[in-house]
Amino acid sequence: MANQNQSFSGCGVIVTGAGSGIGQATALQFASAGANVFATDINANGVAETASLGSSASGTIHTGVHDISSRAACYEVIAAAKDALGDFSVLCNVAGISWAEHATEITEELWDKMIAVNLSSVFWLSQAALPHLLPQAGTPDYEKGENPGDDGSIGPSIINVASNAGLRGQAFTIPYCAAKGGVVLLTRSFAMEFVKTGLRVNAVAPGGISSALSMNFQMPTGETDFSLMQPYMGFRGMGQPGDIADAILFLASNQARRIHGAILSVDAGLTSG
Ligand SMILES: NC(=O)c1ccc[n+]([C@@H]2O[C@H](COP(=O)([O-])OP(=O)(O)OC[C@H]3O[C@@H](n4cnc5c(N)ncnc54)[C@H](O)[C@@H]3O)[C@@H](O)[C@H]2O)c1
Repeated sequence: MANQNQSFSGCGVIVTGAGSGIGQATALQFASAGANVFATDINANGVAETASLGSSASGTIHTGVHDISSRAACYEVIAAAKDALGDFSVLCNVAGISWAEHATEITEELWDKMIAVNLSSVFWLSQAALPHLLPQAGTPDYEKGENPGDDGSIGPSIINVASNAGLRGQAFTIPYCAAKGGVVLLTRSFAMEFVKTGLRVNAVAPGGISSALSMNFQMPTGETDFSLMQPYMGFRGMGQPGDIADAILFLASNQARRIHGAILSVDAGLTSG
């Protein structure tokens, strides 16, 4: 369900992983709320589908095809988004990959890919976006009670997608947990470094969501004690991509103008106990 209370009319928004699942839902919700979206993904058919689904939205969806597993590609995403949108205020780092494997079977190649896509891209995309976001952020005089968004505007922000797997240890997904735990502290560290500006940096930590990622989740090879996976299955079933898009739009909205450095769990209580 789209955030009905906030218009993003004319706001430039970048969404990675926009060809499927949470990223697609996020791109479509922003476009429905009037934003001009740059939707990028490694999957060309996926972003084409997103653009087609959003063709009658009040905003616009521009597409890009990028493999964000290198610093250079992340800088290309930001440059392409700037070309397409003119300017942008919101960066949503949604793209991610996941699979399970025994610690003893994880190769250097698997480790490097997991960290590159799930963690390093979040840093490089944010770094590349800073020269565009910081001039909009300004330096509100917080001591005098000024806040970004006091005038009702959508201020600049970065929203990362972490995971319940970044908040608690899990068996058989060590590289994924390490990457998502990294996203959590990367988010908080960005928040600290820019706390005197008007830039806001937050993350959403989803629990299980029905998407290609969870449907195609690869179980560990060989003999596996599946009871070790029980603690992170949850009690309330799977959520939908739109549930996370709702949270992302909220964090981008003016209603969240005092929210900075937060990790918003949307996991139906999975990490509450
Ligand atoms: N689905 C879940 O249960 C769940 C739970 C917690 C967190 N998450 C996180 O949510 C985010 C979105 O996942 P989803 O569930 O929508 O999965 P998804 O597979 O539907 O979407 C992920 C998208 O990322 C894209 N992608 C993968 N590698 C890429 C690369 N190198 N360059 C560019 N794009 C790339 C894929 O093509 C895909 O479109 C991920 O960061 C994931 O870790 C998902």
